[in-house]
Amino acid sequence: MFSRSTEQALAGWPPPVLDPAGPFASSITVLSWVLFAIGGVILGLVLAALWVALAGPERLRSRLGGTRVIWLAGIALPVVVLTALLIYGLTLTSMLRTPTQPSDIRVRVTGEMWWWRVAYLDQTGRVAMTDANEIHIPVGRTVTVELQSSDVIHSFWVPRLSGKIDMVPGRRNVLRMQADAPGVYAGQCAEYCGGAHALMGFMVVAHRPDDYARLMAGRRRPAPVAGGEAARGAQLFQSNGCGACHRVAGTAANGLAGPDLSHVGSRRTLGAGILPNNRGTMIGWIGDPQSLKPGNRMPAYSMLPGRDLTAIAAYLETLR
Ligand code: CUA
Repeated sequence: MFSRSTEQALAGWPPPVLDPAGPFASSITVLSWVLFAIGGVILGLVLAALWVALAGPERLRSRLGGTRVIWLAGIALPVVVLTALLIYGLTLTSMLRTPTQPSDIRVRVTGEMWWWRVAYLDQTGRVAMTDANEIHIPVGRTVTVELQSSDVIHSFWVPRLSGKIDMVPGRRNVLRMQADAPGVYAGQCAEYCGGAHALMGFMVVAHRPDDYARLMAGRRRPAPVAGGEAARGAQLFQSNGCGACHRVAGTAANGLAGPDLSHVGSRRTLGAGILPNNRGTMIGWIGDPQSLKPGNRMPAYSMLPGRDLTAIAAYLETLR
């Protein structure tokens, strides 16, 4: 079973909750601190009243039990404070719910047990490119993320870039996010969705605008034809039926049941954010995915000899 130390070896993991890297997450962080502060003040008042009730001077103690105190401190104060906080919170975070602007980057993310289907949309809402478990964005641009689910309720949460919202079957929710500095921002499913819920992570990678344009342009070109060991791996990928579940753009592999592998070689993690992506972990994943992430839908290919697993891993590395 996968260990906590492996998890923590991954960049940006665990995602810090009050360390915003963009305007949307900042508004959530400000709201959190305001709530903490007001909660602290009220806790102080309650403790002071408790002290008065237990050991305070008789003069104050008798007043504490008066009807007026109960009406004011017990009913009026909570109503006023909670209403003010509700209005403040809704105003502060209203930017997260504003409708998609024409200048927004659009990404559709679908929650799956237990990984993330990613589709980059063009301005008309058509799918321009597909991927999984990693979302690339340019810094300084607002990204509208359309969230849906294909099975149970999941929740999309990248604490440093935005708030958190559920992905509900049959419904499309929208969340806006933005990164102001290049970097890797960890995300996590935040709604219990079955056995491997805790192992349903992902990465948002923010690039400088020119790097982002270069990356996306490179991905639009067809995958280079693999040679040597990777070419043998490509044949094994086909003969073992991997393409029935996985898609690789520009090849016959067109399966939609599992994560899109068109760019898997450039991904930072495997198994939806749980393992660093390298030759060893790729071989381990293909050979015995159930021991790494129990219950996931990928069958084990432990019947393949080591050199075949190595060749398939070598092929997948070339998909960038
Ligand atoms: Cu998906 Cu929890």
